Amino acid sequence: MDIKLQAGAIDQIDADTLVVLAFDKQSPADFGFTGATSGWVQDLYSSGEFSGKAFETAILYGPAGLKAKRLVMAGAGSREKFDAAELRRIAGAAARSLKSKSLRRLHFALDNRWLAPGMIQSAVEGVLLGDYEPDQLKTDPKKSEKRLEAVTVCVADGGADAEGELTRGRIIGEAQNMARDLKNEPANRLSPRILAERAQQMAQQAGLDCEVLDEARLRQLGMGALLGVAQGSDEPCALIVLRYQPENAVSEDHLGLIGKGVTFDSGGISIKPADGMEKMKYDMGGGAAVLGAMQAIAQLKPRVRITALVPTVENMVSGRAQRPGDIVTTLSGKTVEVLNTDAEGRLILIDAITYALRLGCTHMVDAATLTGAIVVALGHLHVGAFTNNDAMLARVMAAARQAGERMWHMPLDDDYKDYLKSAFADLPNIGGRWGGAITAAKFLEEFVDKKPWVHLDIAGTAWLDDGKPWMAKGPTGVPVRTFVQLAMNWGS
Ligand code: BES
Ligand code: MN
Ligand code: ZN
Repeated sequence: MDIKLQAGAIDQIDADTLVVLAFDKQSPADFGFTGATSGWVQDLYSSGEFSGKAFETAILYGPAGLKAKRLVMAGAGSREKFDAAELRRIAGAAARSLKSKSLRRLHFALDNRWLAPGMIQSAVEGVLLGDYEPDQLKTDPKKSEKRLEAVTVCVADGGADAEGELTRGRIIGEAQNMARDLKNEPANRLSPRILAERAQQMAQQAGLDCEVLDEARLRQLGMGALLGVAQGSDEPCALIVLRYQPENAVSEDHLGLIGKGVTFDSGGISIKPADGMEKMKYDMGGGAAVLGAMQAIAQLKPRVRITALVPTVENMVSGRAQRPGDIVTTLSGKTVEVLNTDAEGRLILIDAITYALRLGCTHMVDAATLTGAIVVALGHLHVGAFTNNDAMLARVMAAARQAGERMWHMPLDDDYKDYLKSAFADLPNIGGRWGGAITAAKFLEEFVDKKPWVHLDIAGTAWLDDGKPWMAKGPTGVPVRTFVQLAMNWGS
């Protein structure tokens, strides 16, 4: 998609389709249109057919007094609740609704009466995210017609950083869509090895250093937890490591971004029910988000050192698969009793966390589709955020708020440690029936060596079961934007 910026008055925009935002309870006179166009807006609101509710649209052909061929009123909801995050969704919804009408060249007018810093960026992100369709594997020759061709952001005065915002919006939107593409790939097309190849390709294009540790290397190092999960699959596992090291870093801090990369989770011997198992192709969603974020980070160049780690594996059932009761020795040296082979995410993450510490990471954030329990607790709206360090969490939450990704602080009191007792090893890989998302986080915490760390459980938010006006059904790309924002804030 071609994306650019244009200055100038609204009536001078020579557009095929000109989109303006329309708030609820907005006075029709506010739009500043004259003559017949003003009358149309007046009639539209007073008819009750259009109220400016978020995600509504109305189209006027040949608007008098404007150069544009079509004028689209895009409902924006309440002016009080309007912010950059809401604009992202409104832009996405407008993009989706207009492209479904084969309107593929859009001019988006952003009005200086409500424009705030960051909104050019979020509008561009919204359009790119809204344009995305998870139809990589549909053979319909006409599917390219379901994509926007060009979007021009029109603003009378975009401020000194308008072009910068536009570029950041494009980089971040594209990175998030790259992560969505990876999540959407079915497991027969995206094995751990192929995920590693995709990471290498991305790294090469973006100019990042990429190292893939293969099974032999992982065995040499002693990553018994990761290898235990891998042993039931014919596909070898790997640990993907990407390094970003700017010369002008503002501090000695070394941020580790760690993402769960289970390309398929059958549950292993503790097998999952058939119903819904197909969704476990997105169990590498945390890893995909880390890779997407690194693609953006390589372009945006925040002034902080970052290492990304994606342990990737397929959790399968076979005669060689790990059994309940098996005890593995992790890279940290601690032993873990595998009471449930379906609690595999935490097993692969702890070896990656230990390795991140060995590489010198001083701060860590992990993202993982880790537990069904987080979906019970928070539904599909909020990412569950766990931490051993409130200051670190505050940085992640601030980044999430800026990036428009909803997160909720979950508890991690020391007393939860009592939920993890093994008679035969240092730790079991599951707790009891209750607080499953918390015991999973508590298990991870045992391996972070008290370094500031945040764990993001994205099991409920990585996938949309039903499409939204602003986003297609399927992979969401959460939390790419938070990772990127965190890195940008850290290096400033
Ligand atoms: N990948 C799943 C968690 C998951 C569930 C992701 C729903 C996305 C949607 C994870 O590996 C898993 O199976 N967790 C188990 C843990 C249990 C065995 C303690 C779960 O949540 O049931
Ligand atoms: Mn599992
Ligand atoms: Zn899993």
